[in-house]
Amino acid sequence: MRVLVIGNGGREHALVWKFSQSILVEKIYCAPGNPGIRELAECIDIAPDDIPSLLSFAAENEVDLTVVGPEGPLVNGIVDQFEAKGLHIFGPSARAAELEGSKVFTKYLLDKYHIPTADCIVFEKYEEARDYLNEVSYPTVVKADGLAAGKGTFICATLEEAVTALDKIMIERIFGKSGKKVIVEEFMQGEEASIIAITDGENLVYLPSAQDHKAIFDNDEGPNTGGMGAYAPAPVMTDALLERVHTEIMLPAVRAMVLENRPYRGVLYAGLMITADGPKVVEFNCRFGDPETQVLLPLVRDDIVELMHTVAIGKLIKSQLNLHNDWAMCVVIASGGYPGRYENGQEIFGLERPLGDDIMVFHAGTKSTEDGKVVTNGGRVLGVTARAGDFYAARERAYWAVGKITFDKAYYRKDIGLKAQKHLQGSTKK
Ligand code: AMP
Ligand code: GLY
Repeated sequence: MRVLVIGNGGREHALVWKFSQSILVEKIYCAPGNPGIRELAECIDIAPDDIPSLLSFAAENEVDLTVVGPEGPLVNGIVDQFEAKGLHIFGPSARAAELEGSKVFTKYLLDKYHIPTADCIVFEKYEEARDYLNEVSYPTVVKADGLAAGKGTFICATLEEAVTALDKIMIERIFGKSGKKVIVEEFMQGEEASIIAITDGENLVYLPSAQDHKAIFDNDEGPNTGGMGAYAPAPVMTDALLERVHTEIMLPAVRAMVLENRPYRGVLYAGLMITADGPKVVEFNCRFGDPETQVLLPLVRDDIVELMHTVAIGKLIKSQLNLHNDWAMCVVIASGGYPGRYENGQEIFGLERPLGDDIMVFHAGTKSTEDGKVVTNGGRVLGVTARAGDFYAARERAYWAVGKITFDKAYYRKDIGLKAQKHLQGSTKK
């Protein structure tokens, strides 16, 4: 098979890394890729949102399977356009990708099909939303409807903060047309977890549970980022909770999408809050998580390309994935200043050193220079993943490896995985 992966982050590096181990795969292209990906795939200089050029490339190079990393092209209809030309592509159609593309659509669907989530009210008019903010209890959550690169949600402790958030979304329009509608949502208390499954529209094949760390600072303080680290499996997700997530959330969601005439094929990612009343949906994403993918794919024993290809050609999937009975932990090394302003172009040291078969250094914001150096080129620079037979060993190895890589003003959280430890209570069994 000739496979094309679209994207240039740590998630896409992890996908390419996994695909490179498949006996079915003869050639991997990545558009546009990054220096880490370039060691495993041929990188082509096409941006992920340039759908016409991606389409021509896939047709001319007889690509058998295209896998899309980021949400933008999915929401903009890349799957519909590839399929119209008879090309096989793994991911949801634009109508199905609305599950991520419009929070208002998702809230409507969850409400209609009685899938547990936070109560909310949707507003199209600023004044009505503004009045409602006087009535709610705090903290409350204010969200822009559309895509906002993960930044469209504001957790507001006070009325004043909520008004500021509303103004940013609806008046200043900092997210453009994504702020035409706004959601004011009940604040849910609990621990978060990510559940990611591959679905053919009817059946779901699950990856292990995972937990992301969205805030920039230790103890979940500071502004949200794309994700500063992850581990899998997430022990907060007991077998009983996983069963509830399947029967109360994931299966009803794919069935609802069929009933809504938006059959959903591809990756379904549920961001969950584990509340005192059970698991509730925070959001759905229509793609793999980043950095969750960097811990999930190293735990998959099977050839995931085969599964994705089966979905892409419209066939049904049945079996569950065979997994390694291990743990994985990823620590993201970011540029100092991220998610605010930061400098690019810092030389990265330590990448050439082999760190061991249990360590994977996934590139995200990196770039090669003409004289062969690798320099920083983004907020999240690297995702350092370790895999081990127990949680503590995975954590220790990940941080050991992080210590071997340096660049000026490198920053990483020191507390990735600590939340898991309180659930483990001395046991290292899954
Ligand atoms: P979202 O933009 O919906 O993915 O939300 C981003 C983050 O905001 C989530 O990962 C949660 O940490 C937090 N969040 C969103 N909605 C709620 C809610 N209703 N209650 C508590 N936290 C929330
Ligand atoms: N890790 C959060 C996301 O991928 O949206």
